Amino acid sequence: MAEAAALALLRWYLEQGIDAAIGARPVDRYRGETAAGAQAPGPPAMAPATPAAALPTAGAMAEPAAGGMVEPIVADARDLAALRRMLADFEACPLRRTATNLVFADGVPGAPVMLIGEAPGAEEDRQGLPFVGASGQLLDRMLASIGLSRQRDVYITNILPWRPPGNRKPTAAETTMCIPFLRRHIELAAPAVLVFLGGTAAQALLGVSEGITRLRGRWLDCPAAGRTIPALATFHPAFLLRTPAAKRQAWSDLLALKARLGGLELG
Ligand code: URA
Repeated sequence: MAEAAALALLRWYLEQGIDAAIGARPVDRYRGETAAGAQAPGPPAMAPATPAAALPTAGAMAEPAAGGMVEPIVADARDLAALRRMLADFEACPLRRTATNLVFADGVPGAPVMLIGEAPGAEEDRQGLPFVGASGQLLDRMLASIGLSRQRDVYITNILPWRPPGNRKPTAAETTMCIPFLRRHIELAAPAVLVFLGGTAAQALLGVSEGITRLRGRWLDCPAAGRTIPALATFHPAFLLRTPAAKRQAWSDLLALKARLGGLELG
C-alpha cells in the first residue's frame, strides 16, 4: 500500500517535470529549513582554463546586468574549443549546479545553417548534446525532409547551455547571463543563416517580444558581431509534437530555408 502511494507520488512528480533530485535530502521549507543545511556537496571545483580572476563568480553575477560583464571576457575565446572551455569554467550561472552536463553544441562547426533552440531537456542533459530527445528526433526528420543532415549541414546549439530544472523556461536573468556566450558562439561558427527554433530563441537574439506565430516564416535580420545574419524563426519541434496541425506552417518555413540555401554560394 505504502509502495503504491510512493509510486503514485513519483509518477506525479514526473508529470510535473520533477525528474531530478538536486539535494542529498529533501528540504521542508514549511518548517523553515534552509537549503544550505540540506544540500548535497556542490560539484567539484573545475580546473580553470581561463584565468580564475577573469571569470565572474556567482556572487558577482547575481544581477541580470551580468551579461554586460561577460562580453569583454568572451571576446578572448579565439575558437569554439576555447569558448567551450570558458563556459565549462563559468561558475556564475546557477543552472550549472543542477545540470549533469554542459550542452555546448552538435553538428558541424562552420556549417552554413546554425540552429538555435531554447535549452537542453532531460535527455540532452544526460548526453551533453542538444536536441537528442524526442524533439531532436523530429528535428532530424524535418532537416532530412529538405535534404539536410546534422552530420553534414547544420550546427546546433541553444540559448542556455545547461538544463533548467524541470524543463522550465529560461528566466530573463539566465538568458541575459548566457547570451554573450551565444553571440560569440555565432561569431565563431560564422553560419550563413540562423534558424531560431521557437519564440524564446528568436526573442532573445532579436531583442523583440513578439510571439513565434508573428515572427515565424519570414527572413529577419539578426545583428551578430558587426554584421547582419539572415535569420528564420520557426516553431520549436517540441511544440510541433504537441500541435501537429502547425506542421504545415513548419513545412513552409523549411521550404523557405531550402530556397535560401539553394541561392547561396556555399563553399
Ligand atoms: N529543446 C531545446 O530547445 N533544446 C534542446 O536541446 C532540446 C529540447
